[in-house]
Amino acid sequence: MQFTRLQPDPGPVDSDALLGDLGLAARAHPDRPYVISNFATTADGRIALEGRSGAIGDDGDHELFRRLRTQADALLVGTGTIGQEGYGRPIRADDLRALRERIGLAPSMPLATITRSGRLPLEIPLFQDPDAHVIVYTTADAQPPAVPARVDLHRVDSERDGPLLSAALRHMRVEHGIRSVLCEGGPLLLSGLLHERLVDELFLTIAPLLAGGGPDPAMTTGAALADPARLELLWTLERNASLFLRYGVRD
Ligand SMILES: NC(=O)c1ccc[n+]([C@@H]2O[C@H](COP(=O)([O-])OP(=O)(O)OC[C@H]3O[C@@H](n4cnc5c(N)ncnc54)[C@H](OP(=O)(O)O)[C@@H]3O)[C@@H](O)[C@H]2O)c1
Repeated sequence: MQFTRLQPDPGPVDSDALLGDLGLAARAHPDRPYVISNFATTADGRIALEGRSGAIGDDGDHELFRRLRTQADALLVGTGTIGQEGYGRPIRADDLRALRERIGLAPSMPLATITRSGRLPLEIPLFQDPDAHVIVYTTADAQPPAVPARVDLHRVDSERDGPLLSAALRHMRVEHGIRSVLCEGGPLLLSGLLHERLVDELFLTIAPLLAGGGPDPAMTTGAALADPARLELLWTLERNASLFLRYGVRD
């Protein structure tokens, strides 16, 4: 799919060239995977319309969304988002499996999720799919659910293991060999990751839409960072009046 790159090197650019190989695995930290996050927002900062994000992104956003899934060893998504969006197994299409294999990744990817309560939306297609692999990190005294999907449940003891998300990412890196993670949200999870300084890059789609108000969330929630994270603009793309920004998070 064609995008117009506004910066750097202005001109037309194809998603194959842009998102064929971001080289994320090589950037893994010794104690955690390299973490990129992908969000789509309206121009007035809402990330859902009537509770769902699908109405925000157009085909350019969809292309970015699926291509980013070909770049990471694992997906990380909060239980609120997998439940509300009705997540299924992240990689199903043969073309996406082939794109992953072309850059030396496993054809499919596990989906990791976080819950303090231990409550999981077991009715969604993800948990009902025998080919899905879900990794759950929880502080609750929960047992792996009896569902068709393979579910690895890891109990995090914050006193012993430290903050939940840092402990989960360390476990993913050390025990599962996961070198890169794509976080697809939602706001509670992104805020948690930002507070623990665990985000390396942000891919942000700004859709040419104004929600004008309403109850739908913004990208982050809860307490503000004492020291706001600073961003470095790595690229700006345009397609059909949507903007696609890639930021590096400076620490
Ligand atoms: N436009 C976009 O790009 C985009 C992307 C993602 C989501 N969304 C939208 O965001 C909305 C969902 O928001 P949400 O805030 O409910 O989503 P969320 O962050 O996916 O899920 C929140 C739940 O995940 C668990 N969790 C997340 N972060 C945690 C942390 N740091 N520590 C412990 N547990 C954590 C908690 O589960 P427990 O309560 O069980 O402890 C929490 O209730 C939906 O409307 C969705 O469409 C939009």
